[in-house]
Amino acid sequence: MFSAIAKFFSGGSSELKQASLYERIGGDATVNAAVDLFYRKILADDRINQFFEGVDMDKQSAKQKAFLTMAFGGPGNYSGEDMRKGHAHLVAKGLDNSHFDAVIENLGATLTELNVPADLISEAAAIAESTRNDVLRK
Ligand code: HEM
Repeated sequence: MFSAIAKFFSGGSSELKQASLYERIGGDATVNAAVDLFYRKILADDRINQFFEGVDMDKQSAKQKAFLTMAFGGPGNYSGEDMRKGHAHLVAKGLDNSHFDAVIENLGATLTELNVPADLISEAAAIAESTRNDVLRK
């Protein structure tokens, strides 16, 4: 019964689609709020800030926004191939699992500070986690 009603209200699609985490978390407004904080944390983190040396400051904010939108399952089509290419030069500089872990940690800390509920933070971390092998070119 519920699923029949759900189908009706979801426009007749065959499955009830849950809103993306991006939408549930507050969409663009939350992403924008998170961008500055996440970026500041990353740059202040001596485990990983060396990878951001010489990175174009103006373009960086758009990249951080892309990063967070992706972590929230929002719009944007980043294929595994893009992630592999986008980080290839960093892998050449030694980017490894420990750095990836540090980024995930900063993501969690950012969302915690913005009062995002723990279950949604876990979802964001899982989505970010799913890119690990591509980012690290494994
Ligand atoms: C959750 C995993 C990650 C995602 C989803 C992600 C996402 C992205 C995206 C979308 C870009 C922009 C690509 C472009 O269009 O140029 C990017 C660039 C970048 N990422 Fe990541 N990233 C991840 C992990 C990491 C890690 C672990 C590091 C380093 C500790 C890192 C450092 C960088 C840097 C420095 C750039 C800019 C590169 C440049 O402009 O030279 N990323 N990332």
